[in-house]
Amino acid sequence: MAMNNVTCIEDLRILHRKRVPRAFFEYVDGGAYSEATLRANRDDLERLGLRQRVMVDVSGIDLRTTILGTSFALPFGLAPIGLAGLQYPDGEIHACRAAIKAQIPFALSTASICSIEDVAREAGSPFWFQLYAYKDTGFVRALIERAAAANCSALIVTVDVPVFGQRHRDLKNGMSVPPRLTLRNAYDTLKRPGWLLGMMRTKRANLGNLAGHVEGKDNLASLGAWAATQLNPSLSWKDVDWIRGLWKGPIVIKGIMAPADAREAVRSGAQGIVVSNHGGRQLDGAPSSISALPAIVQEAGSEAEILFDGGVRSGQDVMRVLALGAKGCLIGRAYIHGLGAGGEAGVAKAIDIIARELATTMALCGVRTIAEIGPQVII
Ligand code: GLV
Repeated sequence: MAMNNVTCIEDLRILHRKRVPRAFFEYVDGGAYSEATLRANRDDLERLGLRQRVMVDVSGIDLRTTILGTSFALPFGLAPIGLAGLQYPDGEIHACRAAIKAQIPFALSTASICSIEDVAREAGSPFWFQLYAYKDTGFVRALIERAAAANCSALIVTVDVPVFGQRHRDLKNGMSVPPRLTLRNAYDTLKRPGWLLGMMRTKRANLGNLAGHVEGKDNLASLGAWAATQLNPSLSWKDVDWIRGLWKGPIVIKGIMAPADAREAVRSGAQGIVVSNHGGRQLDGAPSSISALPAIVQEAGSEAEILFDGGVRSGQDVMRVLALGAKGCLIGRAYIHGLGAGGEAGVAKAIDIIARELATTMALCGVRTIAEIGPQVII
C-alpha cells in the first residue's frame, strides 16, 4: 500500500508494521501482560452507539476549541510517546511540525529521542512537555527549567508509572533494559533498509533529554538503564506540590482512573487531568479509559479540564470521548502509526484522517460545533 491509498488509521498501522523493525513497532502496538485493558479501551469505545440526526443545517461545521486557554483547530492533540525518534529518524521533530501546522497540541515525552531544545529549535514552540518525576530531583528540576526556557506551554505530569507494567512483547523482542540485540532483531532490521538508512543518517539516536545531563552515561543503553532505576515507586502527591512550586504554567496530571485521584489532582493545583490507563500499558485488568471518564468528569470537570486517552483511532472515537464530557483527547498509537509510515507527512495524514472523520460524524449527528457535542449524541 502506498501513502496515497491510505484511508484510515489501520492502513497507517499496516505501513508502520512494514517499515519499522518489529521491536519498535510492537513497543507501541502492544500492552501490559494479557493486553486485556489494551483491548477494552478499543472495545468499549466502539460499543458506544452514535445517534443519527437529520435535517439540521450542518453546512458550517466548526472543529475549533480551546484547551488550557489556547485556541486549537481540533479537539485532539498528540500524546507523549517515548522513543518516537526510533520509529522514524528525528521523529519528535516531524511530529511536532505536523502538530504545529495542524494547529493542535503536541506533547514531548521525557523519554524522547530529540531533546526539548532540539524540538523547539527545529520544529518551533510552544509545545507541551511530559514529565517523569524521576528520583533524581536535581535532574527533574533542571528538566522543568529547560521546558520553561524552551517556551513549553504546559507540563504534563505522568503519575501512573511508579513501576513498569510488564509487556511480554517487549521482553521477547529484546526491548528490555539493557536492550538485547538478538539475531532475529538484526535480521528483522536488515529487511527494513529504508528505516535503517534513515537512522544511520541522523545524529539523533539517544535519549535526548538525558544525554549530557547524567554523569558517566552517554548512550541509549546506559541512559535507558539509568532511567529505569529512576522510576520512583514512592511517588506521591507531595511530589506534585513540589513540581507546582517550580513550574509557573498549567499542570496536567496524566494517568487518572479514579474519582478520588481526580480530587487529589485538583487539590494539588492541576489545571487539567488526563483520564488514562496509559493505553493499556500499565495495569492490565484496569477497565477501559472510556468507562472511567464519566465519573471523573462528574467529580472534577467543573474545576479542571478533563482530557482523555486510550483507544482513540478515529474521529468517531473523538466524538464519543467528547460526548462523555472530555474537553479534548490525545492520540498516541494513531499518530505513531503515521510517523512510522512516513514521518511528518504520515503524522499529517493521521491528523487529517481523524479530523475529517470527526467533521463527517458531527454532520451526521446534527451537531455543528465542539460545544454542541454532548451526551445527546450517544444512544
Ligand atoms: C512509557 O511510558 C511506555 O508506556 O512505554
